[in-house]
Amino acid sequence: MITTSLVLIGIQFYCGISTATTLTSGATACTNLTTLLGLGKVSSNPLDLRYIASREDYWNGLQSVYQPSCIVYPVSAQDVSIALQAIRVSGSRFAVKAGGHNTNNFFSSVDNGVLIDLGSMNGKSHNSSSTLATYEPGSTFGELYDYYAQFGRTVLGPTLAGVGTGAALGGGLSYLSPQYGMACDDFRELEVVLPSGEIVIASPESYADLFFGLRGGGGNAYGVVTKYTVQSRPIGRLYAGNLVYLFEQNDAVVDAIQAFMQYNPDPKASIVATYLKLPTPDLDLNLDEAILMFLVYDGPDAGDLFKNFTSIPYLLNTMSLKTYPEVINMPIPFLAELTRGDNIFRVGVHRVIDDDSHERAIGAWRDWAETNKGAYELLTFDYEPVPKSLTDASNAQNGGNAMQMPDGPWVWISYILETPQGMSQADYDAVQASFAKMVDSVGNAGGLPLFVNDAGFDQNPLATFSTYSELQQIKAKYDPDGFFAQKTGGWSFA
Ligand SMILES: Cc1cc2nc3c(=O)[nH]c(=O)nc-3n(C[C@H](O)[C@H](O)[C@H](O)COP(=O)(O)OP(=O)(O)OC[C@H]3O[C@@H](n4cnc5c(N)ncnc54)[C@H](O)[C@@H]3O)c2cc1C
Ligand SMILES: *[C@@H]1O[C@H](CO)[C@@H](O)[C@H](O)[C@H]1NC(C)=O
Ligand SMILES: *[C@@H]1O[C@H](CO)[C@@H](O)[C@H](O)[C@H]1NC(C)=O
Ligand SMILES: *[C@@H]1O[C@H](CO)[C@@H](O)[C@H](O)[C@H]1NC(C)=O
Repeated sequence: MITTSLVLIGIQFYCGISTATTLTSGATACTNLTTLLGLGKVSSNPLDLRYIASREDYWNGLQSVYQPSCIVYPVSAQDVSIALQAIRVSGSRFAVKAGGHNTNNFFSSVDNGVLIDLGSMNGKSHNSSSTLATYEPGSTFGELYDYYAQFGRTVLGPTLAGVGTGAALGGGLSYLSPQYGMACDDFRELEVVLPSGEIVIASPESYADLFFGLRGGGGNAYGVVTKYTVQSRPIGRLYAGNLVYLFEQNDAVVDAIQAFMQYNPDPKASIVATYLKLPTPDLDLNLDEAILMFLVYDGPDAGDLFKNFTSIPYLLNTMSLKTYPEVINMPIPFLAELTRGDNIFRVGVHRVIDDDSHERAIGAWRDWAETNKGAYELLTFDYEPVPKSLTDASNAQNGGNAMQMPDGPWVWISYILETPQGMSQADYDAVQASFAKMVDSVGNAGGLPLFVNDAGFDQNPLATFSTYSELQQIKAKYDPDGFFAQKTGGWSFA
């Protein structure tokens, strides 16, 4: 029964590709890989605990319905190379998975094909004299932050612990970004298994075009990164925490966010603002909507930098001195619990000076939330500011990343829609379409890149980059016969 329904799902999503062929080619690749790599690195049994863990560990729970023909657990670049070559020969589909937090279908999941789970590749090191850090792709950023903390250092990466290293390939927005740029700006060298199976080192000196494309354009396009060498950054105690407000403070909070984005003079101060909405008031706090500010100062004394926020009446204030791992784990617990469901990301980009489009975006979002009760479990609207200090720091390293970030300040708005589990496909599609229409209704600022890490599959963020034609050429050079383009999910370069 289970197999039948999964095959049906396969038919539904692969329209055009024969499901029978897909099943056979996946099995062929898996048989070959079991011979080549050994049983210890390949699981073809959906009841195997390791297989179950890989299959269930997606931040968009809908990815877990897909059933890979087998899951490969490489421990080296050589293993990845062998896997890609065997997959290519078989004609099977495949997916590459790091932290499994991307919400888009088939970006890191696959049905009836080979799932390459990088989770066993979790080596890491720090060289105190060069201050360079290395990490393999299989750790979460929470694990990386914990590890580098013993050296009084950290690497740039996302603001929550569970997110995987794919975040860095998509740019990687950190609390430290206003000081140092995006996570990918700190890359110094990448070990990459090309679609051909060849293992190369990409840096400013070798494979410079590949190194460029991999800094902010998202994973999964030009090959598989098997080792990152990055500039580490010093980290000590931070003055940081959450402030929680009722929505009735909306106007005051938006004014404070606007002032911060426009005037904050100190790159050590960083904010993320999350507006969140639940369908019913079912929390202990008896809220169905709240504004959750994340305020972080990289140092013990933030002075008056956050005064515009602390002077607004709040429900909760957790500001205190924290270690960096504590900062990364600070969101009040209910948020983390609620968000592992049928989640989809979308993104918008807005200018912040003489431009009120971000306020119109909140208005459109709140209206949609009111008129679509029952269509969501959770809705969030996140301000992710991009100050000028960030774009300056980005462009000062390696000539800037694949986004070639235009001067800040501007802001990415990240939207999460969590739909109720068990919706019919028709209802699900209708809600997604309506939500997408709402996000698009406000319009994006021209000339600014959409953030790959927060984008929905149909938003085509790469096409908003000024470098798009260059990225298309890099794609054509490293994936000349369209092996990745045709056999795994990810952004279209067409
Ligand atoms: C709760 C939450 C918080 C987040 N916070 C932030 C944040 O603060 N800052 C931020 O920038 N983003 C953030 N994101 C977005 C996040 O960066 C993206 O979802 C990212 O794609 C997740 O990477 P991953 O490794 O966890 O996911 P995966 O789904 O495993 O991978 C993402 C994509 O990258 C590809 N990929 C992964 N590793 C490799 C590799 N080694 N070689 C080639 N391709 C690879 C995968 O095939 C897939 O297409 C957040 C997401 C969530 C769900
Ligand atoms: C098995 O995979 C290898 C590449 O890793 C390939 O050269 C070989 O042809 C494959 N064998 C079969 C029977 O598909
Ligand atoms: C650490 O960095 C120093 C200075 O760049 C270098 O000489 C040394 O070889 C590195 N150590 C290792 C183990 O790579
Ligand atoms: C606080 O808000 C005021 C008024 O909008 C603004 O002038 C000031 O620069 C803001 N302070 C900070 C640190 O953002």
